[in-house]
Amino acid sequence: MKIERVVVIGAGTMGSGIAQWFAQEMCFVELVDNSSDQLDRAKKSIHDSWNKLVEKEKLTSCKAEQMKKLLEFKSLDNVSKNADLVVEAIIENLDVKKDLFAKLDKHFSEHTILSSNTSSFPIHLMAEAVSTARRGNFVGLHFFNPATIMKLVEVIKGKDSDQELCHELYSWFDSKGKKPALCKDSPGFIVNRVARNFYGEPLRIVGEDDERKMREVDHILKEVGGFKMGPFELMDMIGIDVNYSVTCSVWEAYDREPRFAPHRLQKKMVEDGRFGRKTKRGYYKYD
Ligand code: NAI
Repeated sequence: MKIERVVVIGAGTMGSGIAQWFAQEMCFVELVDNSSDQLDRAKKSIHDSWNKLVEKEKLTSCKAEQMKKLLEFKSLDNVSKNADLVVEAIIENLDVKKDLFAKLDKHFSEHTILSSNTSSFPIHLMAEAVSTARRGNFVGLHFFNPATIMKLVEVIKGKDSDQELCHELYSWFDSKGKKPALCKDSPGFIVNRVARNFYGEPLRIVGEDDERKMREVDHILKEVGGFKMGPFELMDMIGIDVNYSVTCSVWEAYDREPRFAPHRLQKKMVEDGRFGRKTKRGYYKYD
């Protein structure tokens, strides 16, 4: 399998990390967003991260310059049509994603693999937005946050995704040091199904906007449970808006089973614009 030219759509938390990782693997990457401010922020954050690695002597300045040249920041209209792989990482909204995929289907050449980094939407529903001929080349590629560090990538086979393609993607990611997992197209795939209670139960235990209690739960789960991050810190890093959308979509997909129900505090945080680290205010405050 040849993956040399990659387009990543959405330059937020995930898209910028995914683009950075592909550039570090020496792919030519075009990172796209419909907000030019967001593209500027992504460029600054990726370049700062490489500069810091150079300062710490974990990366040579020559390699950093090479990676900077490999990563371009663009609007969709200016992106080349012959990418090997497109990774969609825009907001977790099914209709918005389907609209985008209909455009991508027309824009990219027929060999281009289209993929979604969705946390929870069925791959086959998004594949409905593209032509029947493209559906074999449409898969889920679910990276984890931060994408440059987390090794797991869920490779999700939709109803019409080509089986051979999924195996080739698995081997490609494996050869690049990721830990791929082949998944069925079921709600939440593997991790986002299993992890729902890691967020839901602490929200039910704390039950209100009380930072002291949240710190206590985070502390217990880290010190006693051995988790690297507590649930409230993790939701702040993921983005409370994203985590809430995923919770709602998995809950709907499982016919509103109570164990997957969203908590009213998640909804309130989203209504108040407290999305976590990215807005400097979530369950905790950030400078
Ligand atoms: P985010 O809110 O940080 O970034 C989304 C970006 O998409 C924004 O920069 C926005 O301007 C852009 N955007 C929205 N509509 C667009 C369009 N039509 N065309 C181009 N750009 C558009 O969201 P985040 O957290 O990066 O999530 C992106 C996707 O990745 C979602 O599907 C989410 O479920 C998934 N995901 C998120 C994880 C996380 O920890 N945040 C982990 C794994 C998957």
